[in-house]
Amino acid sequence: MTNQTFTPRVFSGIKPSGGLTLGNYLGAIKRFVGMQGEMETIYCVVDMHAITVWQDPAELKMMTREVAAGYLAAGLDPTQSTLFNQSAVAAHAELGWIFNCVARVGWMNRMTQFKDKAGSNAEKVSLGLYAYPSLMAADILLYHATHVPVGDDQKQHVELTRDIATKFNHDFKTDFFPLTEPVIEGDATRIMNLRDGTKKMSKSGESDMERINMTDGADLIAKKFKKAKTDPEALPETLDGLKDRPEARNLVDIYAALDDRTSEDVIGEYAGAGWGKFKPALADLAVAKLAPISTEMARLMDDPAEIDRILADGAEKARAIAEPVLAQTYDIVGLLRPGR
Ligand code: AMP
Ligand code: TRP
Repeated sequence: MTNQTFTPRVFSGIKPSGGLTLGNYLGAIKRFVGMQGEMETIYCVVDMHAITVWQDPAELKMMTREVAAGYLAAGLDPTQSTLFNQSAVAAHAELGWIFNCVARVGWMNRMTQFKDKAGSNAEKVSLGLYAYPSLMAADILLYHATHVPVGDDQKQHVELTRDIATKFNHDFKTDFFPLTEPVIEGDATRIMNLRDGTKKMSKSGESDMERINMTDGADLIAKKFKKAKTDPEALPETLDGLKDRPEARNLVDIYAALDDRTSEDVIGEYAGAGWGKFKPALADLAVAKLAPISTEMARLMDDPAEIDRILADGAEKARAIAEPVLAQTYDIVGLLRPGR
C-alpha cells in the first residue's frame, strides 16, 4: 500500500457513443452531481473510448457535445467541476501507452466487458477495444483520482486500475499512484433493459423501446414504461418478494432512484398495487424529473459554441493537473524529455 496521502478527488467519464440513457443518468450523472461540492470533481466525455468501435465522425462530434450538454443540464457546474473531452488532453493517450506496458495480457483476457462486446468476433474487433481498460486507468490515475463513481458494469475496470497502480508502484519502487476506490452505491447501479430484465439498459441495444433516452419526450417516456415487460402479479409487500422478478425489481429501482428514495420505501408505498397503477405513476415521475433536463439539453445544443467554450476551459484546467503528473511519470519510467 502507498504511504503517500492523496487529496480526495473524483474522476469519471461517459462515452459519446450514442444518446444518453436513463441508465447513464441514474447510474452516473445524477451521482456525479451529488459528489460535486463534496470534493474536487473532474468529469470527462471519453471520446477516445468511443472510437474503440466505429463512430461516424460528424456524429461523434455531435454526441460529444450532447454528453457535455447532459452533464450541464443535469446540474454539473463548470465553476465547481472540471468538464472536458478526453482527446483535448493529450496526456491521456500518453499515459495510456505507458500503462499498456504495465498491464499484462492475462489481465485483459479476464475483462468480462471485452468478452461480452467482442463475443465470437474477438479476432475482428479493434486492438483499442482490447486495450481500453488501460486507457481508462490512465484517465483516472492522470489526476491521482481517489474516487470513481460508476455503474456496476465498470467495477472490474476500476479494480484493474488498482492493479496497474500497484504494479507500477512496485516495479518503479515508488508510491506515485493512489489505489482508487470505485464508488458504486444506491439502488441504481445497474438499470436494466425495459424489455428484458436480465440485460443492462444500454445506448446500443437493438430496439429503442428497451431504453429511455434522456432526450425522449413525455409521450414516448409514458409509452415505453407502459409497454415495459412485467409479470402479471401485483407488487409485493417487501423487496424480498421481487427476488425472481427482475423486470418488476428494475421498475421499482428506477422509481426509487428518480425520487431519491430507497426501493424498500417505494415497495412500502405501492405494496399490493397492480401495474395499471404503478406504471403511470412511474411515467409521471420520470417525465417530471427528466423533462427539465431534456429541455435544457436542447437549449444548450442550440448553442454549440457555448458548449465548446466550456469544454475548452475545462481542458485547460485538466491539463494543468495532468501534465505535471505525466512529466513525473516519464521521469520515473526513464523516458527522456530533452529541453523540457
Ligand atoms: P457508458 O455509457 O458505457 O460510457 O457508461 C457511462 C457510465 O454510465 C458508467 O459509469 C456506467 O457504469 C454507467 N451506466 C451505463 N449504463 C448503465 C445502466 N444501465 N445502469 C447503471 N449505470 C449505467
Ligand atoms: N469505461 C467507462 C464506460 O464504458 C467509461 C470511462 C472511461 C470511465 N474512462 C473512465 C469511467 C474513467 C470512469 C473513469 O462506461
